[in-house]
Amino acid sequence: MDLLEAMEARHAIRMYTDEPVDADALAALQSEIDACNAESGLHIQMTHDLDDAFLGLKTHYGRFKGVHNAIALIGAPVPPAEGATAGWVKEGTADEAATDPGEITLQEKVGYYGERLALKIVQSGLQTSWSVLDNADAAPDAWWKLGPDEKIVWVLAFGHGARPGGKHRSKPIEELCTLPEGTEMPEWFRRGMDAAMLAPTSLSQQPFLFTLHEDGSVSAAATEGLFAHVGLGCAKYHFEVASGHSVR
Ligand SMILES: Cc1cc2nc3c(=O)[nH]c(=O)nc-3n(C[C@H](O)[C@H](O)[C@H](O)COP(=O)(O)O)c2cc1C
Repeated sequence: MDLLEAMEARHAIRMYTDEPVDADALAALQSEIDACNAESGLHIQMTHDLDDAFLGLKTHYGRFKGVHNAIALIGAPVPPAEGATAGWVKEGTADEAATDPGEITLQEKVGYYGERLALKIVQSGLQTSWSVLDNADAAPDAWWKLGPDEKIVWVLAFGHGARPGGKHRSKPIEELCTLPEGTEMPEWFRRGMDAAMLAPTSLSQQPFLFTLHEDGSVSAAATEGLFAHVGLGCAKYHFEVASGHSVR
């Protein structure tokens, strides 16, 4: 299964059977995690074959069952690259993760590399779902380790799905991208958008906007939505893989 097929095949699966994940698949995943950590500076960690890899913690929404394997997406807030814009910022609310530029950069990075791992999971013939674990930073006896300033940002459950998933509804493409006036959408840009529209976002809100510029470059920004910057990171990864063009 190539990455584009994995994007089509990926659906959020929240219930898993007790069948263990085989050692080859776990080893392949661990080496992809090592590659992501080396490239990104994140501190992504995996566990497998636990009774409850979510440690009894509440998920932000959605009911999960039989989660024996999981990947913790961990990192420290980092200063954003020069000239980077924060996109959508939810000020004065409890969603503090979206107000600080360092947090925003971390969330987008977690989305980008987490989705790379989610697609690797699907390529291994397994199922996965993104999730938020409430109060994960304070969990006693956690299987993940937090370094100085690090926090656990999001979690990927994975394993053998107990039931199939369905395709999520998408906003129309015109609401998710803009082109210079009078420009027809290039084929490569459409391929990127079709892939971005398959990316998971919290509550399926698709809080992102891709822009094709006059000079042929592409940028993307978060729009209003829950955990928008993580979803933006997921969508950017899909776009880049499918279009062969990088997104700033
Ligand atoms: C950043 C992020 C956070 C998510 N958090 C949760 C969660 O806390 N609970 C849950 O059940 N699903 C969660 N999801 C899964 C989304 O609800 C799901 O991906 C979305 O509805 C699209 O459906 P699909 O993945 O089947 O395409 C999350 C997804 C993302 C990208």
